[in-house]
Amino acid sequence: MKTYRIAVLAGDGIGPEVTGEAKKCLDAAAGKFGFSLRWSDFPFGADYYLRHGAALPAGALDDMAANDAMLLGAIGDPRVPPGPLEQEILLKLRFHFDQFVNLRPTKSFPGIPVPVALPEGKQMDAVIVRENTEDLYMGMGGAGNGAYAVPVTAERGLYSLAGRVDLSLPEGMESAFSLGFMSGEGARRVTRYACDLATQRGEAKVTAVSKANAVPHLYGFWDRVTRETAGEYAGLEYASVNVDAMCYLMARNPLEWGVVLCPNLFGDIVSDLLSALAGGLGLAAAGNIGDGLSMFEPVHGSAPAIAGTGKANPLAAIMSGAMLLRHVGERDAAAAVEKAVEEYLASDRPKPIEQGGPATTAQVGDAVRGCM
Ligand code: NAD
Ligand code: IPM
Ligand code: MN
Repeated sequence: MKTYRIAVLAGDGIGPEVTGEAKKCLDAAAGKFGFSLRWSDFPFGADYYLRHGAALPAGALDDMAANDAMLLGAIGDPRVPPGPLEQEILLKLRFHFDQFVNLRPTKSFPGIPVPVALPEGKQMDAVIVRENTEDLYMGMGGAGNGAYAVPVTAERGLYSLAGRVDLSLPEGMESAFSLGFMSGEGARRVTRYACDLATQRGEAKVTAVSKANAVPHLYGFWDRVTRETAGEYAGLEYASVNVDAMCYLMARNPLEWGVVLCPNLFGDIVSDLLSALAGGLGLAAAGNIGDGLSMFEPVHGSAPAIAGTGKANPLAAIMSGAMLLRHVGERDAAAAVEKAVEEYLASDRPKPIEQGGPATTAQVGDAVRGCM
């Protein structure tokens, strides 16, 4: 029997609750389709960080790399200020494993309430292809009082970068800065992924999100490289839309979107908007995909306010698990998990609390397995 080694980083807040349900659903699918999953749990997140003073121990990345894929819950906890945990775990993994695509399919489901009414019988079926290693996420920046100079460095799959920013400023003036950065190949490879995906989906168009009017160095470059790269795909139309207009147009017409290609930061923002339009963050699955270890995780975060209450919707984690199965080559099992979620949502079984129903995290997981 074929066995896949799956790393699990459940993380913080609702992470363990939703990945717990996802694991059970994937095990059920594996049983049905004649393969097995060997889970390796990694205990990293706020508790580990607060206990050990480090986010990841030496060797953790290599241990993770020995797996066929990873399932992640969420990282982030109110006991730790925003930044260190997310940067030293979540972003660290995305960069270390060069997971250059953050793939975020957004589907709405018949009968599940959405904030902007969809025409009778129509469902959203968009997919965000988010660049996942560059842009304002480089981690390069600094802060100071008066003049200051800071080294800037970054290690990526495509390059190592080292330099220095030296700022002369009025004495005693507080300030901070972050550097955005993009490489030609970084923009090209994610554009190719988006164009290939649009072609596979039988779509005539890729919409790139930008903001070259206000930030011309970074997003003017993004516009040029993505447009040139998409131009190599005969018959595929390319459009660039500013992120502000994109948010407006998405809210006005959620149905209009197919493949949406985004730089890292705008992709993050637009993901939560599209998820809301499709019925909730708890329905939004995602995958961080690269040529090495790929990592599947819901779009949502650790939702600390509802952790431990049973209110977390595990469907995003379950459908991220389906994406993981497809990634390792178990397409039928992946489709069966997705079909079970659709069947559950279309049935008269109690709906998740996020969607206005009474079903707790565990009850939603049970209901999905009941449909498999
Ligand atoms: P969040 O996604 O955790 O929560 C946003 C809102 O959506 C909250 O009202 C929350 O209760 C609700 N929500 C999220 N997931 C839900 C689910 N499955 N079911 C029902 N409701 C759900 O975003 P936030 O509040 O900005 O962030 C909280 C923490 O999570 C922060 O530390 C942040 O850095 C982190 N975060 C991590 C990830 C990740 O690990 N991939 C993603 C986003 C945020
Ligand atoms: C996401 C999250 C992360 C991001 C945070 C936690 C760093 O919001 O996965 O969407 O911005 O990528
Ligand atoms: Mn986000």
